[in-house]
Amino acid sequence: MEAVRDLYWDEVENLVQNNICVLGTGTHGTAYLVRWGGETAVLKVAHKSHAVRSFWQETEALLRLDGAGGAPRVTGFCNDPPAILQEFKGLVTLEDILNQLHDERETRYNLIEVGLRIGEQLEDFHRSGLIHNDLKRDNILVNGSPSNPQVSIIDVGLACYSHENIRCNSDPNKFPWMAPEVCLGQESTRASDTYSYGVLLSKLAVKAPGYHPDVFALALQATEYNPYHRISLPNLLHRLRGLLRHNQVNVTQHPIQVVMPQPRYILPPMPRPTQYLVSLYQVN
Ligand SMILES: Nc1ncnc2c1ncn2[C@@H]1O[C@H](COP(=O)(O)OP(=O)(O)OP(=O)(O)O)[C@@H](O)[C@H]1O
Ligand SMILES: [Mg+2]
Repeated sequence: MEAVRDLYWDEVENLVQNNICVLGTGTHGTAYLVRWGGETAVLKVAHKSHAVRSFWQETEALLRLDGAGGAPRVTGFCNDPPAILQEFKGLVTLEDILNQLHDERETRYNLIEVGLRIGEQLEDFHRSGLIHNDLKRDNILVNGSPSNPQVSIIDVGLACYSHENIRCNSDPNKFPWMAPEVCLGQESTRASDTYSYGVLLSKLAVKAPGYHPDVFALALQATEYNPYHRISLPNLLHRLRGLLRHNQVNVTQHPIQVVMPQPRYILPPMPRPTQYLVSLYQVN
């Protein structure tokens, strides 16, 4: 793990003014592609100066991960304006792929295979003891050739340790990729990220050519409302590997898109609160 360099405001200003391009703007900051020490890097600058605490927490999480799950390694940090200088993990987000905003002729990925890689990176991420809490399409970058896709999980701004609580108090309907227990201010566990992964997997199964009922069935088990009833990530990945091995999920051969309605199971009805709290208490 390398030391994080203190960045001064004029260095940040200089990097922003001479940016190569804006990679994206999210809820908390804008990410610029910049040149640093002869290489490309990403400078994420907060929208607001009082975000310094959350930006430092994000930096600590990235240091803890030390590249696990493909997370970017950190080079520098600035207090004012809050900014994180980090490794560049590529141009194409999963969102771009699903919206076909990338060059499809060169990168016709097997979406189910990409889904497996995302799950494997999430498992690696969890080995650090951290829970991501915000696993969604624009927080995943995909690189490499169709035969060997490389996946990076980015944006650890909401990450916490397993069984910690990020004190969220939001309507789960507004954040459909987040586990309901996280939205409702309960503790985060690996099962919480498994829920978000299930949401992603169902979307990938919709977008992949052909029809994939077995993959949907796995996504369904991952998006059980009660975290205690969800399939574990290792078990899900084991089964997904089996499906891919037996070639039950055909991929890029037939570029015909089967448009299916969004599965309804992603947001199941709320159970009675007491039942729900008992099951949360039991979750590992
Ligand atoms: N290390 C990186 N390498 C490549 N692109 C990146 C990197 N970090 C951020 N980006 C790009 O910038 C976008 C916004 O960054 P990020 O997700 O970290 O910001 P945010 O404000 O926390 O977003 P959110 O709205 O998800 O909370 C990403 O979706 C991605 O396209
Ligand atoms: Mg983001």
